[in-house]
Amino acid sequence: MGKITFVEHDGTEHSVAFDAGESLMQLALDNGVPGIDADCGGECACGTCHVILEGNTGGTGQANDEELQMLDLTPEREDSSRLACQITLSDDMDGMVARLPEFQM
Ligand code: FES
Repeated sequence: MGKITFVEHDGTEHSVAFDAGESLMQLALDNGVPGIDADCGGECACGTCHVILEGNTGGTGQANDEELQMLDLTPEREDSSRLACQITLSDDMDGMVARLPEFQM
């Protein structure tokens, strides 16, 4: 159990409680957070679940080659960019911030 704060590009914040084991993408969708399209349903094949992570990112691990290739296509990519569908939430991510890009492509 923990909380993630999603921050829209305009600064609007959505603080959402999570249970360990669910994906960051599914958490956003289940809680109506705007700005994550997730067109491929979490298959790491569309890049439309791009988030920029900040704060307590412990346990998120490293992006694999497939995820990095998708992120390469993302114009708003930053050093801490990840695909939300590839992040499985764990208790040590409590307090993490996921900023949303202006556009998902
Ligand atoms: S939902 Fe398509 S890459 Fe994450």
